[in-house]
Amino acid sequence: MATNTHLIISLYLCTFLSTSFAQNLQHFTFNGFQQAKLRLDGGATIHQNGLLQLTNTSKQLTAHAFFPSRLSFKSPSSFSFSTTFAFAMFPEIQVISGHGIVFFISPSMDFHLGTPGKYFGLFNASTIGNSSNHLFAVELDTIQDFEFGDIDSNHVGIDVDNLISNASASAGYFSDSEGINKTLNLIGAKPIQIWIDYDHRDMEVKVAMAPLGLPRPSKNLLSSRIDLSKVALDSMYVGLASSTGSVASSHYVLGWSFRQGGVGQAPSLVLSKLPSLPRFGKRRRLSLGSKILLIIVSIVLVMVGLVFYMRWRKKYEEIFDDWEKEYRVQRVSYKDLYKATKGFKEKELLGYGGFGKVYKGTLPSSKTEVAIKKVSHGSSQGMREFVAEIGCLGRLRHRNLVQLLGYCRRQGELILVYDYMPNGSLDKYLYNEGKVNLSWLERVKIIRGVASALVYLHEEWEQVVIHRDVKSSNVLLDLSMNARLGDFGLARLYDHGTNPQTTHVVGTVGYLAPELSRKGKATTKTDVFSFGMFILEVASARSPTTPQGDGHKYLVDWVYDCWKRGAISEVIDPRLEGQIVEEIELVLKLGMVCAHPRPEARPSMRQVMQILDGDTNLLGTLPYDARPVYSNRGNETFPLFASPSKAISTTYSTDSILIVGR
Ligand SMILES: *[C@@H]1O[C@H](CO)[C@@H](O)[C@H](O)[C@H]1NC(C)=O
Ligand SMILES: *[C@@H]1O[C@H](CO)[C@@H](O)[C@H](O)[C@H]1NC(C)=O
Ligand SMILES: *[C@@H]1O[C@H](CO)[C@@H](O)[C@H](O)[C@H]1NC(C)=O
Repeated sequence: MATNTHLIISLYLCTFLSTSFAQNLQHFTFNGFQQAKLRLDGGATIHQNGLLQLTNTSKQLTAHAFFPSRLSFKSPSSFSFSTTFAFAMFPEIQVISGHGIVFFISPSMDFHLGTPGKYFGLFNASTIGNSSNHLFAVELDTIQDFEFGDIDSNHVGIDVDNLISNASASAGYFSDSEGINKTLNLIGAKPIQIWIDYDHRDMEVKVAMAPLGLPRPSKNLLSSRIDLSKVALDSMYVGLASSTGSVASSHYVLGWSFRQGGVGQAPSLVLSKLPSLPRFGKRRRLSLGSKILLIIVSIVLVMVGLVFYMRWRKKYEEIFDDWEKEYRVQRVSYKDLYKATKGFKEKELLGYGGFGKVYKGTLPSSKTEVAIKKVSHGSSQGMREFVAEIGCLGRLRHRNLVQLLGYCRRQGELILVYDYMPNGSLDKYLYNEGKVNLSWLERVKIIRGVASALVYLHEEWEQVVIHRDVKSSNVLLDLSMNARLGDFGLARLYDHGTNPQTTHVVGTVGYLAPELSRKGKATTKTDVFSFGMFILEVASARSPTTPQGDGHKYLVDWVYDCWKRGAISEVIDPRLEGQIVEEIELVLKLGMVCAHPRPEARPSMRQVMQILDGDTNLLGTLPYDARPVYSNRGNETFPLFASPSKAISTTYSTDSILIVGR
């Protein structure tokens, strides 16, 4: 019985003792803080879901959260403690955040004089480092303060009465599964769990951390020997603190557990019970006003885009009719031409042709240099026939023709693409005194080239092509000074055009056969007439329309006059002095024959070619009842040649007719 009583007493005593012991040793577990009754100050709040928010994005803010009951630090074992909490820091700017979270044990809950920013709301400039603070802390610091000897801007430190840490380490953890140390970004907006343990027997503080969800790593991140009995007073509080400085960020705590005394760890947090974090980088809800503004801005943007698109479309807009399908091969896109000429820049302008501006360009696809002629063309009338003609002309191939490479049509515009002739047009050489002087041999080569091209157009192609506008400015020179006849067939455009140099009749004044103005019908013989004028021009270097001698309005009449007077040498370009005069005179005579007023008296281009090839007898047989072409001085006849001459520049015979595409 006595033993029984004893047992009961000792049981009672035991119960009593353990109860009183438990009253002195605190422990708590908060998986979310709804029921926690924490003492909060500063920016600290508890969200409806139980999430503890310490700081928000306001600058210079402090926040404290205390477990409200005192902790008694009297018995040696009471100094041992274990705590763990899960936190997340959301930086406002991705890479920088302020200032961090601190777990601390302090004798007071009054920190209203704590300075925010680097002091974490726990110290101020006058209290820091003073041992009368009695403050133990583990800091999660996201700013490197050189004043406190911080190792980096992402570290964990163990502090006593100061923010100069007793020990610190860059945030990270030992991954047991991988067997390596890994770094942790404190401001990565991902929840992290930290464990802090203190054992009064070895007086060692141990800190470990890991991403929330992983067990406590087997290795600590850092540890430090501290005699907590020298720091703590009899009665202390535990809390979490945080502050923002000139850079702000939102700091959250999801759960926290604490155990005082003993050797076991703080109770585990239950992941499933922890509150969820707000979505990081979540867009703020838009007010009605900003929604309307957003809609208006979108509409404006779409309209601006549309305008740009329309302008872009218009910039490259072309006309393409169904009937053009068969000429697709010759078609060049306007976009390519626009790019080739850098937007038809004045800098790329080669000159003003008879029909419009001529630009130099480089085709983007083939990188070939081309001449691009922009012809204004008001009506689309006759365009179909014209394009058909271009279709044909594009197939013409002769080494003395400027090759037409393609065309493009736009509203009111026709664009033609030709081979680029680096040496420009012949008229510049004839009339620009300063420029390179062409020798007689070079001029003969040019005359023969043009004649050869005309033979091809008149007789050697599948259709008879009348050039309609043979003149020195239409003769272009390639790299080796070969003549290339350009603009063939284009004279037709004059029907619609308004070129001041032209009459209502097709062609250029001064090169027009007299019958053209009467009948208005172009024939091969009208081309021969123009060619005759062209020869006179080349040999005399005088424009067909410049008044010459005593009141002759046209070159041809003056040459005729000189010839009649036996003074043909007066006509010769003075720069040709000392060169084969005989031959020059012969060519002048050929010019006169070609420019005969009566079409039937003119030779054909093939005959002209024969004469140029040396058959001067042929010249003698041509009928020539010479009379002035333009002036009216009645009929006069005189023999053209006293005796047959020798061939023209027989020493020079590189040209022969090239027949292509027959
Ligand atoms: C942050 O918290 C403080 C204190 O509760 C409050 O005055 C402030 O308006 C909050 N700032 C923001 C941006 O929510
Ligand atoms: C710092 O805080 C202490 C109390 O914690 C206070 O007495 C002192 O005036 C404060 N100093 C400053 C500069 O705020
Ligand atoms: C530390 O703080 C105490 C109490 O506030 C004060 O009396 C003492 O002068 C301070 N010591 C220093 C070195 O500032």
